[in-house]
Amino acid sequence: MKIVKEIAELKKLVKQIKNKKKIIGFVPTMGYLHEGHLSLIRIAHKHSDYVVCSIFVNPIQFGPNEDFNRYPRDLKRDEGLLKSERVDLLFYPKLKAMYPDDYKTYVEVEELSSILCGRSRSGHFRGVATVVLKLFNIVQPDIAVFGEKDYQQAVIIKQMVKDLNLDVKIITGPIVREPDGLAMSSRNTYLSPEERINATVLYQALTWARNSFYKENIKSPEYLITQMRQMIETKGGQVDYITIVNKNILTPVKFIKKGDRILLAVFFGRTRLIDNIAI
Ligand code: PAJ
Repeated sequence: MKIVKEIAELKKLVKQIKNKKKIIGFVPTMGYLHEGHLSLIRIAHKHSDYVVCSIFVNPIQFGPNEDFNRYPRDLKRDEGLLKSERVDLLFYPKLKAMYPDDYKTYVEVEELSSILCGRSRSGHFRGVATVVLKLFNIVQPDIAVFGEKDYQQAVIIKQMVKDLNLDVKIITGPIVREPDGLAMSSRNTYLSPEERINATVLYQALTWARNSFYKENIKSPEYLITQMRQMIETKGGQVDYITIVNKNILTPVKFIKKGDRILLAVFFGRTRLIDNIAI
């Protein structure tokens, strides 16, 4: 596995790879890798000849009171995992190379960025869209893989690609979960042992709601959301939002139908977890 830190060097390598007519697959990450990330790499392999993974903890997508400085990092371990997944190249840029002191340009995907997670994390998706566009311009991938774990993020990236006429195909991969149902996340390491156990209620609430639709024909979002909120609060979770939305435009639905998406964000202590499920 090649490890490249310099943007100019990566661009040179990308030219060579493209000259060989290889399809480049790309998986952007912030590191501290787990099975969720690795599942996206396996998807990238299926759709490309040369797989690039990036690790970059992107400061501009963290709010002032968020966890940029304490975000978990373990490059050596990540390198080992990426090698065992036969990743061809790891791009690991330096902060100042991505954002020099005179940096001025940002990407704003309107409307989609200010709802749901964007409401409580102002500027977050502007930071995500900006870094992903920069990474796309550097890596020039033919396909890029994003996880459904960050469902709103994937919708926003698809919108950006469409709006800005980017030549990259966005593929999404399903949520990978721990055996007890908790969606894998680098942030799970922040949970106390008690919070970690209580957090399993998120997937229980999501599956309960989906089953209520299919087994009891319940179509009312309000009813399901109220019940879910109660289940979650009983376990000490502080609900940021629970919503049932159209899967493409993320607007709340009046009556639930197959294909809609239940999205939630919940605090356990100081840790904010997100999860979602397809109906
Ligand atoms: P990060 O949180 O490291 O996630 C990188 C990719 O892994 C994202 O596409 C995310 O949705 C996916 N992922 C995380 N946990 C997953 C799980 N349990 N199952 C499936 N996929 C999962 O998302 C980011 O980084 C950043 O915002 C980034 C896109 C890299 C821009 O900085």
